Amino acid sequence: MCGIVGYIGDQQAYPILIKGLHRLEYRGYDSAGVALISQSGELNVYKEKGKVVALERLCEKTDVTGTIGIAHTRWATHGEPNASNAHPHYSESRSLALVHNGIIENYKVLRLELEKNGVTFRSETDTEVLVQLVEFMMNSHHCDLYTAVQLALKNVVGAYAIAILEKSHPDTLVCARKGSPLIIGVGKSETGRPEYFLGSDATPIIEYTDKVIYLNDEEIAVMDRTGRLEITNLANVKQTPQLVTLQMNLEELEKGGYPHFMLKEIWEQPNALRTCIKGRLDRENSEVVLSGIIDNKEKFQNCRRIIICACGTSWHSALIGKYFIEEACQIPVEVEYASEFRYRNPVIFPDDVVVAVSQSGETADTLAAIQLAKEKGAFLYGICNVIGSSIARATNSGTYLHVGPEIGVASTKAFSGQVITLALLGLAIAKVRGTLDTKFYQMLVDELYQIPDKMQWTLEHNKDIDKFAERFTYCKNFLYLGRGYNYPLALEGALKLKEISYIHAEGYPAAEMKHGPIALVDAEMPVVVIAPKKGMYDKVVSNIQEIKSRSGKIISVVTEGDTVVKGMSDYCFVIPDTRDCFVPLLAVIPLQLLSYYVAIAKGCNVDQPRNLAKSVTVE
Ligand code: M6R
Repeated sequence: MCGIVGYIGDQQAYPILIKGLHRLEYRGYDSAGVALISQSGELNVYKEKGKVVALERLCEKTDVTGTIGIAHTRWATHGEPNASNAHPHYSESRSLALVHNGIIENYKVLRLELEKNGVTFRSETDTEVLVQLVEFMMNSHHCDLYTAVQLALKNVVGAYAIAILEKSHPDTLVCARKGSPLIIGVGKSETGRPEYFLGSDATPIIEYTDKVIYLNDEEIAVMDRTGRLEITNLANVKQTPQLVTLQMNLEELEKGGYPHFMLKEIWEQPNALRTCIKGRLDRENSEVVLSGIIDNKEKFQNCRRIIICACGTSWHSALIGKYFIEEACQIPVEVEYASEFRYRNPVIFPDDVVVAVSQSGETADTLAAIQLAKEKGAFLYGICNVIGSSIARATNSGTYLHVGPEIGVASTKAFSGQVITLALLGLAIAKVRGTLDTKFYQMLVDELYQIPDKMQWTLEHNKDIDKFAERFTYCKNFLYLGRGYNYPLALEGALKLKEISYIHAEGYPAAEMKHGPIALVDAEMPVVVIAPKKGMYDKVVSNIQEIKSRSGKIISVVTEGDTVVKGMSDYCFVIPDTRDCFVPLLAVIPLQLLSYYVAIAKGCNVDQPRNLAKSVTVE
C-alpha cells in the first residue's frame, strides 16, 4: 500500500529517491518523506503531508546531500495522514530512521511494552514501534543493527517491508521483508563502484540497473559501499541471493504524451493484448500454448473443480472467466472474494485447482487465500501482471498477462488482459480435457485472434464520449445492467465510475432489476445497458423498455448496425460484432472511456483517486 525506495552508492541519493517516489506514488499518496545521511554525518529526516511534490517543495530549503538514503510514500492505515505519522520514523535517540510498508498487527502490545521500558513515541503509527524496537534491541543486547533487526522482527506479527539507516554507519543499508514486496537492484556507478537500490517494485530501479534480487519472506539483507550484500533469514541462516534480469522498458513508465496514465492504458489495450496472446495463440494450428498447462497437464485433466480467488476488478474478470471455462471445459468453477474465502474455512479438495487473479500479484487477501489453499493441498495457478510478484512466486504455475506496467489506480488494460488470459486458460484446459469440438475450437481461436483489431476499432469509434460526459457530472447515481457475460462487465463499469468520479453506481444482472433496483429509476437516473445483438438481446430490449417507461436515461452499448436499441437510447456506443463470450473485451472500452471523461469533467484526479491505492497489500 505504501512505496519504499532506497539507495547506497556513489551518487547523490536524493534525486534518485524522489524520482523513485514519483514512480511509486500510485501505491499511496497521502504523505511522503525521505531520510539521508549527509556528508557531515547528520541523519536528516524530511516529511510532508500530501503528494511527493509537497515533499520536494519542503526539501528546497534543506540539506539533501548524502549518498545513502531511504524514502517513502504513504497510504495511511494507522494514524491520520499528517507529517508526524509520515515515514521515515526516527528512533527515540534519532540515531535510526526507518520506512515501512505493511501492517504490524501486534503493535499495541509492543508499544505498551516499550513504553513500560521508558521509550517515548512521537506518532500514532504501527511503524514507529518497529524502529523503537530495533533501537531497544541494540541497546539491550549491545548488538549491531543487523542483529537488532533480526531480534526485533522475531517479535513482530504482521506484514512488513522495511529499510533502515543508522547515523553512525553511513556505509550500510539494512532491509527486510515479510508479506510485503521488496526488491534490491544491484548496479555499478559511473566510477565502477557497486551501488544498491531498493524498491517496493522494479519501477524506481529499472532506470539504473536491470539486475535485481527479489527478497523472500523473513529475509534480512545488509548492503554496503564495498559491494557486500548478505542475506540471512530470521533464524540467521545465510541465503543465496538469486540475481534476476528485469524485463521492463522505461518508456512504459511514462505517460507518453497522454494527459493521464489511465487514458494511455485504455488506448494501449489493443497492443497490450497483442503482446499477451503472442506466442500463445497459434491461429494457424488452432492451438493455445500455455506452458503452465502443458507442464501440469494431469492436474487440469483430473481436477474436480476450479476455484478462482481475486479482489476488485480482478474478481470481475474472474467471473467472466468462470462463465467461459464452465462453458468450454464443462468443469465447475467457483469465484471467490479472496477476503471472504481466506476467513471462512472453505471446503478445498486436494484435486481442486485454485487460480489467483491479481494485476499486482501483491494483494494481501489474494495472497492469503492461496496460502490457505496451499495448506489444504490444492494446486495453485497464478494469473498476474507484475513479474516476480509475491502471488506469482507463491503459486505452483501460472501465466503472466504481459500487458506492461499498469500505473493508473483504476485498472483498465489489466482487466482486458485478465479476461483474454482466462479465455486462453479455458481453451488450453478444454484441449487437455477434450471438451470442445475441433471446428468450434478453431472458430474461437480465430475470433480471439481478431479481438485486438476490434478493440482498436472500438476505440476509434468511441472517441467523442468526452463531448457529452459533462452532462453526467450532476448525477448522484448510475445503474449498469448486463446479462450473461455482460453482467460481470456491468459490475466493472460501475466500479470504474465509482472509484474515479465518486458517483455512486451499481451493477446488476439486467433481469434482476425488476426485483428491486427498478424502484430507483426516474428521470435523473442514467442506466448503462450492455446490449449487444447476441443471445439474450430480445430480453435486454424488454428490460430497456421497462426503464424507459419509468423515464430513466438509457446509455447503451450496442453492436454496430443495431438500430432498435440505438433508437431507444439517449446515448449509444457501438462495438463490432464478436462471439458472446468475447463481448466484454470490446464493450469494456466505452465504459472505461465514460468513467474517465465523467471524472475529468468533474475535475477529479483520475490516476490517483481519493482514499485508494493501486496495490492493497494490507487487509
Ligand atoms: O492487484 P490486484 O488485481 O490484486 O488488485 C485488486 C483490486 O484491488 C483492484 O482491481 C482494484 O479494485 C482496482 N482499483 C480497480 O480499478
